Amino acid sequence: MRAIFPFNDSWLYAPQVLASDVADSAFEVVTLPHSNKRFPYHNFDDREYQFISTYRKRFVLPEARQGRRVFVDFDGVMLAATVSINGHAFPEHRGGFTPFSLDITDYLREGENLLSVSVDSRERADIPPFGHTVDYLVFGGIYRDVRLRYVDPVYIERAYATPLDVLSKSLRLRLTAHLVNTQAQEVTVSLAAMFDVDENNSVGDSVDVAIPAHGKAEVSIELDDLSDGGAHPQPALWTLDDPRLYTATFSLDWGDATDAYDRVQVRFGFRHAQFKDDGFYLNGQRLQLRGLNRHQTFPYIGAAAPARLQRRDADIVKYELGCNIVRTSHYPQSPHFLNRCDEIGLLVFEEIPGWQHIGDADWKALSLRDVRAMIERDYNHPAIIMWGVRINESWDDHDFYEQTNALARQLDPTRPTGGVRFFQGSEFLEDVYTLNDFSNDIQEPQVTPHLVTEFNGHMFPTKTWDNEERRVEHARRHARIQARAASSGGVSGAIGWCAFDYNTHEEFGAGDRICYHGVMDIWRLPKFAAFFYESQQDAAQRVVLRVASNWRLGDVSEGLIEPVYVFSNCEEVVAYVGGRKKGTFRPAHDLFPGLPHPPFRLHGLDALLAHPYGDLRVVGLIGGQEVAEQIISAPQPPKQLILRADDDALLADGADMTRVAFLVADAYGNPLPYAVKVVTLTLDGPQGAELIGDNPFPLVGGQAALYLRAGHTSGVAVVRAQADRLPPAEIRVRIG
Ligand code: GAL
Repeated sequence: MRAIFPFNDSWLYAPQVLASDVADSAFEVVTLPHSNKRFPYHNFDDREYQFISTYRKRFVLPEARQGRRVFVDFDGVMLAATVSINGHAFPEHRGGFTPFSLDITDYLREGENLLSVSVDSRERADIPPFGHTVDYLVFGGIYRDVRLRYVDPVYIERAYATPLDVLSKSLRLRLTAHLVNTQAQEVTVSLAAMFDVDENNSVGDSVDVAIPAHGKAEVSIELDDLSDGGAHPQPALWTLDDPRLYTATFSLDWGDATDAYDRVQVRFGFRHAQFKDDGFYLNGQRLQLRGLNRHQTFPYIGAAAPARLQRRDADIVKYELGCNIVRTSHYPQSPHFLNRCDEIGLLVFEEIPGWQHIGDADWKALSLRDVRAMIERDYNHPAIIMWGVRINESWDDHDFYEQTNALARQLDPTRPTGGVRFFQGSEFLEDVYTLNDFSNDIQEPQVTPHLVTEFNGHMFPTKTWDNEERRVEHARRHARIQARAASSGGVSGAIGWCAFDYNTHEEFGAGDRICYHGVMDIWRLPKFAAFFYESQQDAAQRVVLRVASNWRLGDVSEGLIEPVYVFSNCEEVVAYVGGRKKGTFRPAHDLFPGLPHPPFRLHGLDALLAHPYGDLRVVGLIGGQEVAEQIISAPQPPKQLILRADDDALLADGADMTRVAFLVADAYGNPLPYAVKVVTLTLDGPQGAELIGDNPFPLVGGQAALYLRAGHTSGVAVVRAQADRLPPAEIRVRIG
């Protein structure tokens, strides 16, 4: 019987190479996910995380092995790991973005075992994405989850659920298991596979299969007649509004012993995704893809974000940014992030690690390994609609990309390949022509199917505290290009660069080691451009009304603040200044054709520089009803310090975290981008809980955040914030 144990707790960590005879007292106790170093949010050097560190874990097997094999499963170690168990070293695993598993059975001892991991976080030229400059940081450490897994000597290595002919009368489900026999003799096993259509109906079948000694077998069971009219209800489709997920169960029986079996469950969805020459179709309906690129890094903690923050990012992209697709630029991302994309209905374009540079034959072999590892890990996610099998923005390499494409198609014939290029005319070996288009427009597709995978980015970096005209123009560029993509025939969609500001190398960014390319800042707090994306979602999902202005006439050229842009999915908006109605406005369909919710442009507000003017109030209407409102105060000093946690409860697992954001705001809660203040946070809380981040925080831009991390002790964490001349703020988060 299979057993899986979380293995994130009670690791020992030392930021240097330490031999096995060095006492544990030289180490610090840590919980995974772990970053080999903490950082300020900017102005640090990547060389600070580029070193070899040592992790150790002493453990007694959590339960008797009883003939089973024992594996350690690493979800991700950055960048290379040499694992040893009781002195036996495994070959180095190279590459930080895909998982690896080691069979430690033969080296286990009665009583205490010592697992140690030497983690090489130097940016080694032999490992993708490195070898040349790279516009992102990877950070270091055992930064994803680790598990201990027991399996029987005959076990299921991987299992896949493949819905087939989803939109036709012959809807089927193929359930495939990859089986392993670790024994010295051939074995015949019975594999059963089934899934629950609903509470009362299960569909399944079983087959016998012989697995050679020390060998493997792949077996598929096809469940037919799943369409309407069969013996049970038809499974529901996975859609963006109602992303229905199903669980397939694979059970393996072998030998005579009735308790000798393996059981694996996978989650999947029934959906049909297709890129055609005239665009992308989900479940047979044309869907204009509108998305943003996401890097997996966070301020202070690098890439070592726990499940909650990973899942929250998916929620942010879907609900706060109104996107229907995200690109995991430029590598496979956390399973927690992808799981959440499945659960909420957010499409994903996932790609292999890389950035412009292709290395030697050995490097390419690792890249091919990454193609395989990515697809094997993520095959069952209905959210994923395409595999990226090129190194982002590399030059053509015919033989290499023939191979990456062939491998992806062999491993997954159900999904198209893409491969992100930065010039028209690059050789088309993939199924979808995925192009980064930095023309500040949408170039006519020369090849279809066609998807724009980046635009804007370095062409117009924008900070939260830039002047208003730049912040508005940043938003307008995103709106205009999304409108162009939506109204040019043959463009499946556009994925902008990018969702969040991110830490980067010295060759890129603003010189403080941040690329300010996000529509949100590095803490995932919005710039005006975020409001554009947020407003594109259906009002049934979330009513949005955001004014892209701070309503300070003296802050714009010549005091001419109009037009004031409002991003909203309301049908019309009404503007008031100082309590007086100034006009009713409709979305600017003429200027932004093709968008579900074009921006509103407010004119005639009668506000003049050097004359007194009142608060701006904008009201949104749907069906004649007032459904949203925003008020921005006329110029006034900051009125409040707002403190906000994303969650009111955390797990006491030593790793869980929530974002604690603080804003210096006007009387109505609008952050004031030029309020420069020192904000000090204090924590009163259960043992082990801590605030992570720069503290006191020299705030610019009116908004920033720290993270509250739980320890292993339950209780209530009280976080307080204070800043000169503002009333203090306080929030509470339960840990337990
Ligand atoms: C692209 C690249 C991205 C990012 C972006 C900045 O060329 O693919 O990773 O560097 O430029 O605009």
